[in-house]
Amino acid sequence: ITAFFAPKLLAGQKLLVTAGPTFEPLDPIRGITNHSSGKMGFAIARAAHEAGAEVTLVAGPVHLPTPRGVNRIDVLSAQDMLEATLRAAQSASIFVATAAVADWRPATHSEQKIKKDGSGKPPVLNFVENADILLAVARSERAQSRKLFCVGFAAESENLVEHAKAKRERKGIPLLVGNIGPLTFGQDDNALLLVDATSTRELPRAPKLTLARELMAEIAVRLPDWRV
Ligand code: CTP
Ligand code: CA
Repeated sequence: ITAFFAPKLLAGQKLLVTAGPTFEPLDPIRGITNHSSGKMGFAIARAAHEAGAEVTLVAGPVHLPTPRGVNRIDVLSAQDMLEATLRAAQSASIFVATAAVADWRPATHSEQKIKKDGSGKPPVLNFVENADILLAVARSERAQSRKLFCVGFAAESENLVEHAKAKRERKGIPLLVGNIGPLTFGQDDNALLLVDATSTRELPRAPKLTLARELMAEIAVRLPDWRV
């Protein structure tokens, strides 16, 4: 009863979360993607809704049901994700970037299927770097004036603590969350390392929904101090 009437942790907040991989087309039937399952981002969307936030979930191509009460925007490429995210970020108060955005996309997108030319030589693929969505949001006027609290996730295969600290500073964000290895995909549980300006703290291995709820609490406690 008490818990039912207690004010929710994120009441009045608008939380925006990116999730899943992106798909970078090469031709009408092929493209580059990665193994992100989207489960962490979807768990965060659900946990944020439970915590009373109004939630927008920008999702790359994943096969997951939309959490109840969540506004979902489906996208394919990093460029689409950037556009949808920047638009939604204009009214958000918390941004959590869990998407495994492709770092590169094919430099050219063929309108027709690329065919073997009979020479036995494979095509040479050129790539260009995609925009950093988290960095773009973190540099926005809203984030810079502390109306928008940005949280990044980091996937590292080595030296997690050092890389996570460096990544938080490079992105200019108040909180960065590292996946405590080994790099696994599609698992239902995980362990997280939280890195902020003054401390690091570990959330021990648990189901992603449990971790998502813990992360919402970690964000909620940081908001008042950070905003002033
Ligand atoms: N990210 C993003 N847009 C990109 C690349 C990354 O929004 N184009 C976000 C991810 O959603 C994540 C954070 O940035 O929250 C860190 O992503 P990660 O891939 O670990 O870092 P990168 O900056 O891409 O650096 P690298 O992959 O070289 O380690
Ligand atoms: Ca990357």
